[in-house]
Amino acid sequence: MGPGTMADYRQIYQRSIDDPEGFWRDAATAIDWHVPPTRILDDSEAPIFRWFPDAELNTCHNALDRHVAAGRADQPALIHDSPVTGTTRTYSYRELRDQVAIFAGALRRLGVSRGDRVVIYMAMVPETVIAMLACARLGAVHSVVFGGFGSRELAARIDDACPKVIVATSCGIEAGRVVPYQPMLDAALAAATHRPDRCVILQRPEQPATLSRERDLTWAEAVSDAEPAECVPVRATDPLYILYTSGTTGRPKGVVRDNGGHAVALRWSMTNIFGVRPGEVFWAASDVGWVVGHSYIVYAPLLAGATTVLYEGKPVGTPDAGAFWRVVAEHGVVSLFTAPTALRAIRREDPEGKHLSGYDLSTLRLLFLAGERLDPQTCRWAGDLLGVPVVDNWWQTETGWPIVASPRGVEPLPTKPGSPSLPMPGYRVRVVDESGTDLPPGAEGAIVIGLPLPPGCLPTLWRDDERYVRSYLSAHQGNYLTGDGGRFDEDGYLYVLGRTDDVINVAGHRLSTGAMEEVLAGHPAVAECAVIGVHDPLKGQAPRAFVVLKAGADPAGLEADLVARVRDQIGPVAALRRVDVVAALPKTRSGKILRGTMRVIADTGDAPVPSTIEDPAVLDALRPLLR
Ligand code: COA
Ligand code: AMP
Repeated sequence: MGPGTMADYRQIYQRSIDDPEGFWRDAATAIDWHVPPTRILDDSEAPIFRWFPDAELNTCHNALDRHVAAGRADQPALIHDSPVTGTTRTYSYRELRDQVAIFAGALRRLGVSRGDRVVIYMAMVPETVIAMLACARLGAVHSVVFGGFGSRELAARIDDACPKVIVATSCGIEAGRVVPYQPMLDAALAAATHRPDRCVILQRPEQPATLSRERDLTWAEAVSDAEPAECVPVRATDPLYILYTSGTTGRPKGVVRDNGGHAVALRWSMTNIFGVRPGEVFWAASDVGWVVGHSYIVYAPLLAGATTVLYEGKPVGTPDAGAFWRVVAEHGVVSLFTAPTALRAIRREDPEGKHLSGYDLSTLRLLFLAGERLDPQTCRWAGDLLGVPVVDNWWQTETGWPIVASPRGVEPLPTKPGSPSLPMPGYRVRVVDESGTDLPPGAEGAIVIGLPLPPGCLPTLWRDDERYVRSYLSAHQGNYLTGDGGRFDEDGYLYVLGRTDDVINVAGHRLSTGAMEEVLAGHPAVAECAVIGVHDPLKGQAPRAFVVLKAGADPAGLEADLVARVRDQIGPVAALRRVDVVAALPKTRSGKILRGTMRVIADTGDAPVPSTIEDPAVLDALRPLLR
């Protein structure tokens, strides 16, 4: 189905399952190929699959140059709207292409070429998008690290990706506070074993960094006299980027995105799921450090010839709860994508939507929400307030685009509050029991996806096929384990009930309780600890920590110390605010901490006592703290 045509969801979905190669061959015609695909799927190394194995393209060409050549040179490509600096700047497709080509030339002069990695640790500024696209232009592989992460997380990513160059901003700007990045970068480089050749620092006037002369150069120095670089064709199966995401252990997983499958899937999704046409304005109010930012701030809108908004601000406090409505009205946004937490933050400050008045939101057609469970109350509130359909969609860093959604460019399907709706093309979604047997409608189980995953999803983890297979493909042969639990209803609508592992979702930010436990356990006074995610009315979930001290350790000031330790090492975004010192942690007889039982007590007030518990009195002592 071509862009813009309305068709029947069920026919489209069925074709993608019955004839995946035909389906994706057709979708691939929307992309400009240097060498068009003749083969669609390579299954010779199953369970690792590769899409478009004999094709070549350049993602930056498809995002910029082709639109300049096709008459969109003067159309806005990127609008940077930054209430925290009081500035707005628009880049046309031509301007963005030129700046990307120059920065690509600068990177090339620093020795970056096809296949090299570049770590990007930057705030929400246009140069971040420019740096990402410059890597894509050279066939280099970017790895963006979210600015809310601290030195330990940054160091782990540097050591895994081994970048030739790191590009950073001197600071980020949070509502009411400047966050210097240089101390975090210095601490991460001191902790990491890998050494990049150079660091390029974008000096921001709010807080310039003190540079290390041998290691660093400024962005301005890097681009001065740089020659623009042309697009380097790469194989469709070559990596475009690595995006690290939280797993069960403290070591993040390097999700790899290829060039070809990614371009095809995102281009398809922009038209058919998000209903956005070339020339229209799309706004994903997320951060480029997360997958939503990669896919729907940077790549998909530009692949589709749309205009994207890069917003450096918050839903509230920059300056008020009308900030989102101002951006929609000022830039003529047709489709807004954000996390439910952002709307809960707006509702808490402005439940009646008084801040809407004075803004003309007539361009807005759709509101997309993802990143965490959408509670029916928030869904209804937003729909009533804005008078547009609210479209829940479920996916994850690993898939790069929605697994389950209501495709608005195809056929507006009836939605059901609490469900993100139906599977998108190529996703064979199943709900299974422990033995891998499909469960009937209404029964809860693990959500898995039959292999192969569609284009755009991770082909593997960075330089770690073994971990990819072990973490995702081993639980149920022939299926990808999503890590979420859920159920179908009689109409095939999926209800996602939350993670079944140690991943938590705090304000739409995916975090690992295991990583927090590693940081706490590193404190000399801590004998053992448990971190769980508990329900939070604003952020969906919030972490809580319980620690047992070593004999003789002094508890004075320890809580503040531990909170600061997690903030420094993982980052402020971990938002660990409460640590309780306890005499013991409840365990099974085999020594496993009963985190699940603790979580259920915290969320519901009670939980059945597992028959495997070692000492029920330990759990009883904890109950008052959990409730
Ligand atoms: N750089 C540095 N620090 C950051 C940061 C960044 N990019 N992003 C967040 N932080 C800091 C915040 O300033 C805050 O610091 P504080 O503890 O000093 O207050 C801390 O990390 C926790 O941030 P957050 O959980 O975002 O809470 P908040 O109280 O600052 O804001 C919301 C609450 C609801 C406004 C905010 O969480 C939000 O906009 N959520 C939407 C989430 C989203 O877009 N997710 C992306 C997935 S789609
Ligand atoms: P991330 O990889 O950061 O995108 O986080 C992915 C996780 O967020 C998923 O595995 C889910 O647990 C959760 N999630 C994302 N979108 C939704 C949604 N629409 N409904 C419920 N949970 C969601």
